[in-house]
Amino acid sequence: MKLNKLLILVLGMAFSGATLGAGEIVIKFSHVVAVDTPKGKAAEYFKKVAEEKAKGKVKVEVYPNSQLYKDKEEMEALQLGAVQMLAPSLAKFGPLGVKEFEAFDLPYIFDNYEELHKITQGPIGQSLLKKLEAKGIYGLAFWDNGFKSFSAKKPLRSVADYRGMKMRIQSSKVLEEEIRALGGLPQVMAFSEVYQALDTGVVDGTENPPSNMYTQKMHEVQPHMTVTEHGYLGYAVLVNKKFWDGLPADVRKALEEAMKEATDYANKIAKDENDKDLELIRKSGKTQVYKPSKEERLALKKALVPVHQKMEGRIGADLIKSIYKETGFDPAKL
Ligand code: LMR
Repeated sequence: MKLNKLLILVLGMAFSGATLGAGEIVIKFSHVVAVDTPKGKAAEYFKKVAEEKAKGKVKVEVYPNSQLYKDKEEMEALQLGAVQMLAPSLAKFGPLGVKEFEAFDLPYIFDNYEELHKITQGPIGQSLLKKLEAKGIYGLAFWDNGFKSFSAKKPLRSVADYRGMKMRIQSSKVLEEEIRALGGLPQVMAFSEVYQALDTGVVDGTENPPSNMYTQKMHEVQPHMTVTEHGYLGYAVLVNKKFWDGLPADVRKALEEAMKEATDYANKIAKDENDKDLELIRKSGKTQVYKPSKEERLALKKALVPVHQKMEGRIGADLIKSIYKETGFDPAKL
């Protein structure tokens, strides 16, 4: 067993059942982004509502900014019971063996939040969450973040500009293929390491919605950003199944209600938070924010949409088709 796994296991046993004090149930909720982001704010909101609704029976401890665990470790920690709740990006489920979540990473598959919600708030989303049960996890909800843009050490305008660029991505094979389709070199890296990697030149660029870029100060070490909005980044809120099943029924009900309210809140603020942070990046004067022309956007789309077909073997052609059917996307009509 690897050392970090062992540590997680020891911690997990120390906190197993996650109860402390006089019968108070403690939920450790670990995440990797800043507090002042859609996910960070929604986690705090959940804490507040859950503690109120559970009337003192539950304490939610939120650990933001990879304080407790980085991307890969937090998934292991959840499965081992060292933390009870997470909200990882949908691009991070491949290593868990639930590759279908990478459908959300397909470039340009959603044009806007309305199209996305047809999946996350419909039967396809529900059936994806169901797949997690075999991994000892319940998927409680989908939380929005937003649409990703590229940033880099040099301007990115034509597709040729991406050639040879080392781009940090999350641990998703679809994202790997996306960068390759542009002639770039994908580098998988934990979110907590991105700022430094950009600053020291370990990678040349990256992609994320503005809220993640701004709150990690990536714009301070990336002189160029292109508002490509070429793909979506959002979350599934996860809970350890054994922990959840072991909760008293009234507590579980209170937490379910709190999760519903927190989900409405998350999905209400996500777009505004990203719009605001894009404006703040622009105003900082540290990054030149470029809005691509219609032609440049179309060229990027034409280069990236073939990734859908390439990834059919991994994600499932049927799943991709069923998403197209819901959203009306037609790769033949670009
Ligand atoms: C990333 O690693 O870029 C994102 O998944 C971080 C996050 O949780 O939003």
